[in-house]
Amino acid sequence: MKTLAWIIAVTIAISVFYGQLTRGAKTPATKETASSATMDMPPMPQVIAQCASCHGEDGVSNTRYVPHLAGQRRGYLTNQLRAFHDNTRKNRGMHAVVMPLSDSSIEDVAAYYWAQGQVKRANIDSGSSVELNPKLAELVEKCDRCHEPNEYNQDAIQQYPILAGQRQEYLAHSMRDFQSKHMRDNEMMYAMTDLLIGEEVDTLATYYQNRRSAERVGRH
Ligand code: HEC
Ligand code: HEC
Repeated sequence: MKTLAWIIAVTIAISVFYGQLTRGAKTPATKETASSATMDMPPMPQVIAQCASCHGEDGVSNTRYVPHLAGQRRGYLTNQLRAFHDNTRKNRGMHAVVMPLSDSSIEDVAAYYWAQGQVKRANIDSGSSVELNPKLAELVEKCDRCHEPNEYNQDAIQQYPILAGQRQEYLAHSMRDFQSKHMRDNEMMYAMTDLLIGEEVDTLATYYQNRRSAERVGRH
């Protein structure tokens, strides 16, 4: 009898232990882990799994208004995560997501998505190129001075997001956020988007979504 009781006790102990292991591994976003995360940093795979639920596997988004992160510049990603954290870029969902992250986790997560390179993005069907009227064609040259790699912005390029290949609705939404001047904090982009009237925003968003960046995979 004693042996039987012992076997039962051991079996229960193992199943409880195993249950905890698998719960920990398979359900990263339970309430339990979210609250303990404020004291104890969540490990990287758990963080990435949470991001993937909106931003897609490897940072390629399948959801309207949710940006691709794959291959986005590391410095820019870090800045934006800090801005969501401090509410200088306003988005409730992203604020909640970054609050439990330490500054070094923010840098790690930015490095992770940057390292995905542009491979996945390049596979996105980019559609046909968009004809621009003379006003927009001239303007795009200005946009590219910051947003595309060139001789003027070598030192600062990590501060600027890659626009080429980003989702159209997201790009248009971002430009309108700058136009409103209270969702995101950037004087340069306020000035640039003030030059755009009505549907010009949507035209430029389509233009950039359908364009390939000159930036090559893995370039820093
Ligand atoms: C509930 C859905 C959701 C989750 C989970 C989520 N995001 Fe986001 N994320 C969004 C949305 C929506 C936006 C666009 C916000 C806006 O319009 O300003 C965004 C924007 C961003 C941006 C700005 C990108 C750019 O091009 O400016 C970054 C960086 C980002 N998210 C990183 C992350 C990371 C890292 C995680 C995981 C730690 C994460 N997100 C989890 C929905 C989500
Ligand atoms: C002087 C440099 C500069 C120029 C010129 C410029 N931008 Fe930007 N742009 C930035 C910076 C810096 C950011 C990031 C701002 C922030 O921190 O929110 C940005 C952000 C953006 C975003 C948000 C992307 C995202 O992933 O959320 C869009 C869209 C954008 N720019 C479009 C344009 C367009 C279109 C033009 C030309 C009409 C343009 N920009 C010209 C510097 C510039």
